Amino acid sequence: MHRRQFLETSGILGSGLLLPATLWGQSLDSNPLNIPALLMGERSGNRQRYQLDVRSGETEFFPGISTSTFGINSDFLGPTLRLRRDDEVTLAVNNQLDESTTLHWHGLHVPAAADGGPHQVVEPGASWNANFHVNQEAGTFWYHSHLLGKTGEQVYKGLAGMLLIEDENSNSLEIPNEYGVDDIPLIIQDRNFNADGSFRYMNTPMESMLGVFGNTVMVNGTINPRFELGTDKIRSHPNKIRFRLLNGSNARTYNLTFSDGREMHQLACDGGFLESPVSMRQIELAPGERCEIVVDFSDGAPVDLISIPMAADSPFRTTGMMGNMLTMNQVRLQILSIQPQANRENSPAIPSRLTTLPEIDPGSADRIRQFTLSMGMGMGMMMGRGRGGDRGGDRGGGGRGGGPGNRGRMGGGMGSMHRINGEAMDMATINERVPVGSTEIWEIENNSMMMHPFHIHHGQFRIVDSNNRAWPAHEQAYKDTVKVGPGQRVRVLMKFEDYADPELPYMYHCHILEHEDAGMMGQFVVE
Ligand code: C2O
Ligand code: CU
Ligand code: CU
Repeated sequence: MHRRQFLETSGILGSGLLLPATLWGQSLDSNPLNIPALLMGERSGNRQRYQLDVRSGETEFFPGISTSTFGINSDFLGPTLRLRRDDEVTLAVNNQLDESTTLHWHGLHVPAAADGGPHQVVEPGASWNANFHVNQEAGTFWYHSHLLGKTGEQVYKGLAGMLLIEDENSNSLEIPNEYGVDDIPLIIQDRNFNADGSFRYMNTPMESMLGVFGNTVMVNGTINPRFELGTDKIRSHPNKIRFRLLNGSNARTYNLTFSDGREMHQLACDGGFLESPVSMRQIELAPGERCEIVVDFSDGAPVDLISIPMAADSPFRTTGMMGNMLTMNQVRLQILSIQPQANRENSPAIPSRLTTLPEIDPGSADRIRQFTLSMGMGMGMMMGRGRGGDRGGDRGGGGRGGGPGNRGRMGGGMGSMHRINGEAMDMATINERVPVGSTEIWEIENNSMMMHPFHIHHGQFRIVDSNNRAWPAHEQAYKDTVKVGPGQRVRVLMKFEDYADPELPYMYHCHILEHEDAGMMGQFVVE
């Protein structure tokens, strides 16, 4: 059968239904996993300069079918940027699109003027340089569009890429370290397609409320990808592979595991190494989050990286009526098939010590700042259990708990009901002012029925606890995005040591991009 015909008759294209990926995933041929190009930058004076051209393109996700996409130096997605700690860098963005955009360096500690958030718009045809000093630990980060109200759409089309920081420690550790050989980036995203092959982005009210979930998973832009160890492209044949996992999806949270249940040694979370590797069988990765794992393939057996429904006791599952009705995160998905080969080299054992992190000392905080996440759900779906006026007098207390009133803005549609502290994002409002040099606890409470991955710009934080309970060991390191489950109250500790700028704000927001675009975002300055 002609492939196009097959796609149509099998309902892959043009279907509004969420299909279990395994149904169709196994019917299609697998494709070699794309590895994004590595961009090391060029010396220019005392700076390392990275040229990033944002442009439109055409991509063949399905053979013979072309999809209009966006990319950076590429038709879809962007190169992997590799930055070295202590370098002075220039990330030079040139916008070749017909529309405005921005590029934000997610997880990087940079001045607000270099952050690439909604205030650093690059007009069509214009250029913008982000200049900063790389002053944080090695880790896996990413960059993506952050245009006000259009982040979801632009990331969906392809404006995202991975960004790695390396430092003396990461280079001296005996861990798989050769990009594309045994150190493999995996950008996991889900998409919907129309029958003509174009992306189908957000055309239902449900999608604007919950976020856009796709029925087609891609890794680094490859649909139904396969990764072969030990092919001619690969010089050595290591038996341990380090995967850098990035959930670059708009809304979907994955519960990643291997089809044979094999062990994953987690080395790092969002902002850098754990002190010691943590043995994992499943990893819940929300939009915006990253983790690094090392997996042993000495047995030579083919295996699949898959996503499975979150465990019954996971605090991040959608609750209440929504949880029963909507099972977006509760499906089984094929992510990547891995085919090891014979004649492998024995990679060294994983070191037991990866880094040393400062103690988390909540007592060091100068103040506690509270954030309540809410979704007005309309008839019968609201929670209506706001905590009331417990937040001190520095802020108006409207709309906490997400009641449908929302100051009479119901008319704005579902989208206007995604709030933080009862407020929707407003470019002209600085919601919080943080004194430079201070250490703060940010307490994030979720009054809705669905988990929100809460992300803070300006750098990395540590997770103190959740509802007074300890946070799992595999996220006890630097983080910039934290899952806040329904009814959870998570405390994070963050230092605001430098980069004071009383004018230009940083963002904090839910990293479900449709929630962010609908207003679940706020601004703070460090001054
Ligand atoms: Cu990944 Cu404010 O963004
Ligand atoms: Cu960010
Ligand atoms: Cu959200």
